[in-house]
Amino acid sequence: MAHPILEINNVSRNFKIGGMLLGTKIKAIDEVSLTLPGDKPQIMSIVGESGCGKTTLAKMILRLLEPSSGDIMIEGVPLSYYSKRKTRKEFFKKVQPIFQNPFTSFSMRKTVDTYLFETALNLDVAQTRKDARAVVADVLKSVGLEIDQVLGKYPNQFSGGELQRISISRALISRPRLIVADEPVAMIDASLRMNIVNLFKKLKDEYNVNFIYITHDLSTAYYVSDYIATMYRGNLIEFGNAKHILTQPAHPYTELLLDSIPKVGEKWEEDMTLPDLETKEYGLSGCKFAARCPYVKEVCRSTVPEMVPIHQEHSVLCLKHNDYQTGNPKPLDRSGLDSNNQLSV
Ligand SMILES: Nc1ncnc2c1ncn2[C@@H]1O[C@H](COP(=O)(O)OP(=O)(O)OP(=O)(O)O)[C@@H](O)[C@H]1O
Ligand SMILES: [Mg+2]
Repeated sequence: MAHPILEINNVSRNFKIGGMLLGTKIKAIDEVSLTLPGDKPQIMSIVGESGCGKTTLAKMILRLLEPSSGDIMIEGVPLSYYSKRKTRKEFFKKVQPIFQNPFTSFSMRKTVDTYLFETALNLDVAQTRKDARAVVADVLKSVGLEIDQVLGKYPNQFSGGELQRISISRALISRPRLIVADEPVAMIDASLRMNIVNLFKKLKDEYNVNFIYITHDLSTAYYVSDYIATMYRGNLIEFGNAKHILTQPAHPYTELLLDSIPKVGEKWEEDMTLPDLETKEYGLSGCKFAARCPYVKEVCRSTVPEMVPIHQEHSVLCLKHNDYQTGNPKPLDRSGLDSNNQLSV
């Protein structure tokens, strides 16, 4: 059986904010675990409101940030393996990023083809410039561009959408196993967002590549995903098969998100100013969503929920689904669990 493409095991990441003496520690990522299967290419979306930890998680997957605890594996290899100088290149052959703002991904003083040629040569995809040209032409074609439209041009000669397609083509050069795209459509004209998202769907099969798609744009997330990871204040609160989550959302927060889905392409705006009481409660014992939850019970304010499987490919962090609260538990299908009681989808 193929290794899972991505395994995140009990990963936390803390940040210190404020001064040495009066500063506080925040848990930007709080014991997140998930497994993305590797038997066929997948698109996993990470959704959740601003500040919930999406970028922090993405940066840890990209090795731009170390977890405070826990570990991450890609195709069965722990990321610590890539920390040596000689293994770093191996990592970039396997995992590639796409960032939010294509205009800052490229220097304004270099022609964009420089980046494409350098990637092909540095990652040993091509040995000569002539070979590199064929590789570059190929990846550009895959994103709908001709090499002659691109050669010799500077970033400001392209639209945001075109430039983002060029950064996607750059990410494809090494034929990676995983592309991590943090808000790749946020800076792009709303009318063009679906084009980029549709491109991920097409490339997934064409290049046999997995995508992690981080977004505020829920409508595209639900449209494009095979798996959805919903985060709330550093916790993974629901994870699993996208269709299952769409038809049977299990976390009250996901229900709220689904109700608030705007039309395709419209950005989802969430007011992040927390009421005073909630700010004080943040980080205290109990479920972090309790203050906003329409189903809240007393137990939710004092008991930390655990991730429970409600289906082979669907798990949720909510006491509503913990056997002991309801008194009338739904039968849990534990057939997909491994020895650590984790869901292995
Ligand atoms: N370097 C840092 N130092 C201190 N705190 C940080 C740092 N990076 C992130 N944080 C905090 O960690 C939390 C998660 O931030 P993160 O950027 O991962 O959220 P996000 O979900 O990507 O938000 P957005 O949707 O706005 O991009 C936030 O409270 C943020 O302020
Ligand atoms: Mg972010």
